Amino acid sequence: MRLTIFGTGYVGLVTGTCLAEVGHDVVCVDIDADKVAGLKRGVIPIYEPGLAPMVQANHAAGRLDFTTDAATAVAHGDVIFIAVGTPPDEDGSADLKYVLAVAQTIGKHLARNAVVVNKSTVPVGTADKVRAAIAQELKARGADVAFDVVSNPEFLKEGDAVKDCMRPDRIVIGASSPQAIEKMKRLYAPFNRNHERIVAMDVRSAELTKYAANAMLATKISFMNEIANIAEKVGADIEHVRQGIGSDPRIGWHFIYPGAGYGGSCFPKDVQALARTARQVGHEAALLQAVETVNDRQKGHLFELIARHYDGEVSGRTFAVWGLAFKPNTDDMREASSRRLLQQLWDAGAHVRAYDPEAAQEAGRIFGQRDGLVLCESASQALEGADALVVVTEWKQFRSPDFARLHASLRDRVIFDGRNLYEPDEVEAAGLAYWGIGRGR
Ligand code: UGA
Repeated sequence: MRLTIFGTGYVGLVTGTCLAEVGHDVVCVDIDADKVAGLKRGVIPIYEPGLAPMVQANHAAGRLDFTTDAATAVAHGDVIFIAVGTPPDEDGSADLKYVLAVAQTIGKHLARNAVVVNKSTVPVGTADKVRAAIAQELKARGADVAFDVVSNPEFLKEGDAVKDCMRPDRIVIGASSPQAIEKMKRLYAPFNRNHERIVAMDVRSAELTKYAANAMLATKISFMNEIANIAEKVGADIEHVRQGIGSDPRIGWHFIYPGAGYGGSCFPKDVQALARTARQVGHEAALLQAVETVNDRQKGHLFELIARHYDGEVSGRTFAVWGLAFKPNTDDMREASSRRLLQQLWDAGAHVRAYDPEAAQEAGRIFGQRDGLVLCESASQALEGADALVVVTEWKQFRSPDFARLHASLRDRVIFDGRNLYEPDEVEAAGLAYWGIGRGR
């Protein structure tokens, strides 16, 4: 099928590439000419395992192209995806200006029947606004073209995006016409082998499904962080508690890891946006607000532990920080817990030597050259001259450090483990003090 994708950000680029990989003829459109030129040369603007070779191979094979020319792109697609950003605006709701601008562009150029698919995470009711924006443009130029608007939310995880896209656990399609659903089923047929993954429903339910999924996952994390804080106070170890509850299939092992709080471009934004949608329709979403409050508090928890260890005397000390990205296998630092921690350390007069396997450049962009921050090239370089170690992101390479070496490097011989990577007994046996999340035993 001939497909057009508006937006070569995270979602658009991964989706377009995977659709080309299974044989569709894909054109990706972006207004950023430099980005488009780069993509044509195989330069990938984000770090995502496996994506670069796939983009290059599909581009070389002629199945994946990039353009800034919206008119040609609209003419190309039987199905046209909208996959542009929906950043939160000042009051926390998703800002639809990019989505609606694309809808207008589609309306300006659409000359034959097409299905317009919303892939961006958008509040319930957005499909109606997209439909109206396209219809208005068609009317303005007196064009009589039939089109459908479908909601097809994505469930990709950064760092696993290619795998998630090639092997989805479900494909949610919200549409109001059987023909649109049929077309979407044909499009996704290569991903729907062996067992049925397509869940078809009405448009509003599909839009809400996306928020419900992220809000549920964020709720699990905040719940565990809440229990971790209780564990710390009552002298229990959250890691035992986690193992004690995860085997119940009704609870499950996933997303029950306590830590330094959730970050990224999705959970914080989506929980707030859903709470706002609820408020707009006259419902106070008390649980969602609590999920957000707990997470916000949790992002400050590592610093609290640090301040407690040092009786508030943090000024002048140097902290090695391992991990800046909001999670491993990405260079993304949006809403990352590290940002709060670093700011708190600086506010308290401390110095930071930070290392992240992928996010150094992003950190440089965010913080620039500033006093109190040295971006290091390796985990061991971050330890040089440090008083203490703080682990913020659970990159695999941080999992088994040489504790004897840490003992020799860290002046104050203390580890603050924001992701519970280490066993307290093992750390303490090496002569280091250990602070984890919810480990009050
Ligand atoms: C999330 C969802 O997991 C995807 O299904 C969804 O498609 C995506 O948002 C989106 O809406 O685009 P992502 O933000 O890439 O994906 O990252 P996650 O792996 O979900 O992690 C989010 C945050 O939760 C990270 O900061 C992570 O450290 C934290 N987390 C995760 C925990 O603190 N504990 C856990 O047990 C799991």
